[in-house]
This record gives sequence, C-alpha cells and structure tokens, in this order.
Amino acid sequence: MSQADRDKWNARYLAGAYEERTHPSALLEHWAGRLQVTGLVPKAIDLACGSGRNALFLARRGWRVDAVDISPVALARLRAAAEAENLPVNCVERDLEPASSALDGFANRNYDLALSMRYTDVPLVGALPRVITPGGHLIAEMHLITEKTVAGPRNPRFRVTPGELRKAGAALELLYYHEGLVTDPDGRTVALAQLVGRQPRTPTG
Ligand SMILES: C[S@@+](CC[C@H](N)C(=O)[O-])C[C@H]1O[C@@H](n2cnc3c(N)ncnc32)[C@H](O)[C@@H]1O
Repeated sequence: MSQADRDKWNARYLAGAYEERTHPSALLEHWAGRLQVTGLVPKAIDLACGSGRNALFLARRGWRVDAVDISPVALARLRAAAEAENLPVNCVERDLEPASSALDGFANRNYDLALSMRYTDVPLVGALPRVITPGGHLIAEMHLITEKTVAGPRNPRFRVTPGELRKAGAALELLYYHEGLVTDPDGRTVALAQLVGRQPRTPTG
C-alpha cells in the first residue's frame, strides 16, 4: 500500500474535503436509470469511491455496492452514512495501484456496473472489464488536460490526454463518449473525459 497516498488523502478528508459534494456525478445520474440489469438486486463496484456520493446514490436506488478506496477516513464517512440509512454498501480499504493487482479478490464478471469517477488511473479502466458481467456497464469520468481555467487537479499527471480514456475502454461497446467542459451541479466548471461502455454479451478478455 502506498502509505504516502493514504496519508495524503486521509489528511484531505480530515480537513473536510468533499464534505459539500454530496451530489452524485451528473453522468451517473443520467445513465443509472437507463442501464439494463438482469438480477433482482443489481451489483456495482465503485473504485476510488471517496466518501461515497456515487455509491450512496446507487444504494438508495436498490443497488448493492462494493465501495473501494485507499482512505479509511473517507470510508468511515461513507460507512456511517450508509448505516444511517441502512443501505447495502460494503466498504473495502484497498490500494488500487498497481492496476494489475487492484481487482484481486473481486470475483470475475460479478458486477452489473463498475464506476471509476474522477480517479485518474487509465490502466485500471483497462482492467475493469474483467469484473463486469456480460451486458453490464462501465461508467468512467476523468479530469481532462485543458488550457482553460477549471476546477480539479492542477498537476497534469492527474489528468488524461484527449482519446486516452476512450482507448482504455476499447474492450467495451461504446455507448457514450464526451470530452470537454462540463458544469457540475455545484456550479463549478470542470474539463472531463466521460465514457459509458457495455460489456459484450460474449466478452473477449
Ligand atoms: C477526487 S477523489 C474522487 C472520489 C469519488 N470517486 C468521487 O467521484 O467523488 C479521488 C479518490 O481516490 C482515492 N485514491 C487515491 N489514490 C488511491 C489508490 N492508490 N487506491 C485507492 N484509492 C485511491 C482517494 O482516497 C480519493 O477518495
């Protein structure tokens, strides 16, 4: 586990990071009701879930969610919120780097939906089809390199280049792809690459 990453994110959450950002991703909100799921209780995995705005959104709509993050502080906040509403969110503390071992222990083809929201790990997106059920979906959103003044990370290491996310999701059927400026529900402008993909009925990987 990268202790430095863990400490950095714990410190941010202890300082109140994202406390006001309780709204789910607009991309997820738009797509959640459009996804076809087979089981009675659909299952999602939310990678680098933070304090769980998206995991909670799904759980309130009847999803069972495995929520994974490196920060125990963020996970404690999510766990408390889920317990207060009696929601089926299973919090998993895990370092998602390297991507090659990030999904060890999660069953293959198990999830109707995998989420990777605003966590810049392109190889992880490439690895995610392994855990998505045939016909299941991936929704991914990453900060995009831009010359405009936008919210989000200043360090370009935490932003993707044009086309990078699309390429990472190439094993999936592409349902939606967008790169550009987006206004978040809180009014902030962000530059994003957004992808919605579907696992083929007969996956290749
Ligand atoms: C910008 S926040 C996004 C949180 C959430 N996905 C959202 O959209 O609100 C990035 C998250 O990535 C997590 N993170 C950073 N490095 C990580 C790693 N190596 N493994 C797992 N999680 C990590 C942080 O703890 C943080 O919660």
